[in-house]
Amino acid sequence: MKAAVLYEAKKPLVLEDVEIGEPKAGEVLVKVAAAGVCHSDLHFMEGSWPFPLPAILGHEGAGVVERVGEGVTLVQPGDHVILTWVAPCGQCRNCVRGKPYLCASNPATSMRDGTTRLKKGDQSIFHFIGVSSFAQYLVAHETAMVKVRADAPLEKVALIGCGVMTGVGAVVNTAKVEMGSSVAVFGCGGVGLNVIQGANLAGATTIIAVDKFDNKLEIARKLGATHVVNASNEDPVAKVREITGAGADYTFEVIGIPEVVAQAFDAAGPGGTAVMVGMPPIGAPVTVNSLGLFQGKTLQGAYYGSARVRIDMPALVDLYMAGKLKLDELITRSYPLEGINDAFEAMKKGQVARSIIKF
Ligand code: CU
Repeated sequence: MKAAVLYEAKKPLVLEDVEIGEPKAGEVLVKVAAAGVCHSDLHFMEGSWPFPLPAILGHEGAGVVERVGEGVTLVQPGDHVILTWVAPCGQCRNCVRGKPYLCASNPATSMRDGTTRLKKGDQSIFHFIGVSSFAQYLVAHETAMVKVRADAPLEKVALIGCGVMTGVGAVVNTAKVEMGSSVAVFGCGGVGLNVIQGANLAGATTIIAVDKFDNKLEIARKLGATHVVNASNEDPVAKVREITGAGADYTFEVIGIPEVVAQAFDAAGPGGTAVMVGMPPIGAPVTVNSLGLFQGKTLQGAYYGSARVRIDMPALVDLYMAGKLKLDELITRSYPLEGINDAFEAMKKGQVARSIIKF
């Protein structure tokens, strides 16, 4: 099968033929229909987050189940599925205490038995956070599959697997934004735009989008932003305070820059909550103004939108099919797998909200 393989950080992905093995017990072979190109793939490509190589990247995708291994009960051949990059086992401590997005038995680089189903000649290739969707087929554990209704277009709902779940989930599951809240969102990329539409779905009445690119602020308006601030020519913290009075009830940092996390914390009002959704370079310290903590502000982390994938993802698909969740507006471009390096170049230049690889 054709796949895009990362052999070395800071180098382009290599398009080549790779062998994929049959699904073993508990595993599923999926024919990939579409894969989203996510900014976190780029973090690994650029080496700011380490990962064993070679690996097939891609952690957002949807497809059709081709074959299942022994004992698989969650899906069967022909099912339409969205892939999740945390495959909750349902039995570890984190799953049982209601935090399945932190499942402790989720292997990042291999199958659960420690081996991989991907290889080129004698060299085995690592799976990428249990998904590896930049390939015509993938093998993943059955708990990484969320079965969705067959009338939903896979090339649209693929985005739910990471960007939409992470963004909307940070609002409704992690922060639990209430109706009538004021919300400021720093960063309007693929995830930030979904924070904006999550705030809209939650009934927030003031939604301030902050970005340095006017093209993204325009999409932000379509997804429910009531105000837009271009941080290249305005101080976003001062502007959020001006619009909200004392600062927003909820702010979200969705870029992954420690200084912007501090800005988001400053832009939250007394008693407000600032949520870091972005991925700063691994381990980078974040410094916030202590006066804000004195004023009862909360600095909150968010991981995968605190997803309960088997509840949230089918619900997000239903919301899309009902016209309430916007996905078409998020997809700026689509590429064949051969165009994947171009898709990352366009992302680096800020030209796209989300690109999708269509197979
Ligand atoms: Cu992602």
